[in-house]
Amino acid sequence: MDELAAATDSEKLESWRIRYFGSNGQLKELMNRLKDAPREQKPALGKRVNELKVGLEAKLADRKEALESTSNQVGMDLTEPGTVQGLGRRHPISSTMDGIVDVFRLMGFSVVDGPEVEDEWHNFTALNIPEGHPARERTDNFFMPLDGGVPRLLRTQTSTVQIRAMETMSLPLKVVAVGRVYRPDTHDATHYSMFHQIEGLSIDRGVSMADLKTTLIQFAHAYFGEEAEVRMRPSFFPFTEPSAEVDMKMHIKGQWQWVELGGCGMVDPSVLAAVGIDPEEWTGFAFGLGVERIAMRKHGISDIRWLFENDARFLRQFG
Ligand code: DAH
Repeated sequence: MDELAAATDSEKLESWRIRYFGSNGQLKELMNRLKDAPREQKPALGKRVNELKVGLEAKLADRKEALESTSNQVGMDLTEPGTVQGLGRRHPISSTMDGIVDVFRLMGFSVVDGPEVEDEWHNFTALNIPEGHPARERTDNFFMPLDGGVPRLLRTQTSTVQIRAMETMSLPLKVVAVGRVYRPDTHDATHYSMFHQIEGLSIDRGVSMADLKTTLIQFAHAYFGEEAEVRMRPSFFPFTEPSAEVDMKMHIKGQWQWVELGGCGMVDPSVLAAVGIDPEEWTGFAFGLGVERIAMRKHGISDIRWLFENDARFLRQFG
């Protein structure tokens, strides 16, 4: 029954049905001819026409059922060539963060986390940034709607996690935190309103600036290579005293170059006191580095916006 097999949709099947079962169909015609047949042949011929009719009806019903069941299987036509889906891969920011954290883990730091929506205590007050300080200006922060009367904002720095670690963990402690921070900057090749930092904090008895420098040098050697160098330039941050900017000399496209990576210093005694740690007994160092700075220099990416546009043609190059 090739004709029936060729009826690949309900419309074609219906015209097949009309051709055989319609009022001018072939079965009707056979019936008409039966009238003219010799009388003694009529019963036998009648029987054959009837068998034919029953057989055709069964075939029609089978074909109808087959068509209905395939039309329910949307998208299951296995004769289609199909499309090859590209596999995803780690985003360059994620793989950079993973690599940095791996090194600090080996150096005995544990990894901690904090919320991106923060209160003013953790983002400012406890970090020695008092009310009225310019860093608390509404235009320099993403403040959120009041939460039960309490102001909240998107954290501007991962230093918030230093405070949370000191509030909740026992001493001595050695932690790193990585994550997003937010600042209302106008987007250009080097600024974006969201970026990532890695924060480190070590609190113990007798921790000194020498421990800070050793830690940063060990990190630079492990992450960038044995020839990498670290430079600290005097600076100011409200939560460290003394404070310094950190530069690291990295190998970029065949050349060693100094890159500014962030800030560091000895935790200010007033920060320790704010979280109930006795600054006479404990001292600490802290640092905060920019993840994009590292990732962009490492991969030769000249525009920070490319990192967040999620254009597969850009992301495909890393992995
Ligand atoms: N939080 C600072 C910033 O975002 C960076 C920083 C400086 C972090 C000094 C520190 C530090 O832990 O000790 O600009």
